[in-house]
Amino acid sequence: MAGYARAFEAGRYAESAESFEDAAWRAAARLPNIRKPIVLDVLAFPWPVAEVDAIVCANLIHIAPWPVVPALFAGARVALRASGPVYLYGAYSIEGRHTAPSNAAFDRALRAHDPRWGVRDLAEVERVAGDEGFDLVETVEMPANNLSVVFRKRGPAVS
Ligand SMILES: C[S@@+](CC[C@H](N)C(=O)[O-])C[C@H]1O[C@@H](n2cnc3c(N)ncnc32)[C@H](O)[C@@H]1O
Repeated sequence: MAGYARAFEAGRYAESAESFEDAAWRAAARLPNIRKPIVLDVLAFPWPVAEVDAIVCANLIHIAPWPVVPALFAGARVALRASGPVYLYGAYSIEGRHTAPSNAAFDRALRAHDPRWGVRDLAEVERVAGDEGFDLVETVEMPANNLSVVFRKRGPAVS
C-alpha cells in the first residue's frame, strides 16, 4: 500500500494507545513520511483526518463490534480520495462457511471473549461496502487462512 501514500498516518483506538505507541511509532519515528499516530475511533464522526490516499486495517473488523464495519466504510467514503483503496487483512468466512477448522475455532474464541466480535462473512462486508460506494476489487489468500481484501471507492480512475 505504500505506493499509494505520500505520508502514512496511523490511527489508533484509545484502548490500544500504549501498545501502538510502543510497537509502531517509536520504531517508525525516524522515517520522514510516517506521521505520529492519531486517535481515530471509526464510530466517531467526523474522523479527524483530511483527504487520505488509502486506508489499511489489519485484524480490525472481526475484533470489534459489527457496527464498526459500516462505520469504517462510511468514514472512508468521506475521507478517501476518489478511487482510493480500503485494504482489510484478516480471517473471513465465505458464503457462510469457515475456510478452515482453525478459523472456526478462532471465531468461537472471539465470540466467547466478546459476543459482538466474530469472523465476518466476506459477502456481508462486501454488501455493506457497496452501500457506501465501494467495490471489492481483489482478494488474496494469505498465510494461516487469512485474506487480503481490497475495496476501491467508486469514482474517477487513477491517472
Ligand atoms: C486485534 S487488534 C489489531 C491490531 C493490529 N492492527 C494488528 O493487526 O496487530 C484490533 C484493533 O482494532 C481496534 N479497534 C476496535 N474498535 C475500533 C474502533 N471503533 N475504531 C478504531 N479502532 C478500533 C482496536 O483498538 C485494536 O487495535
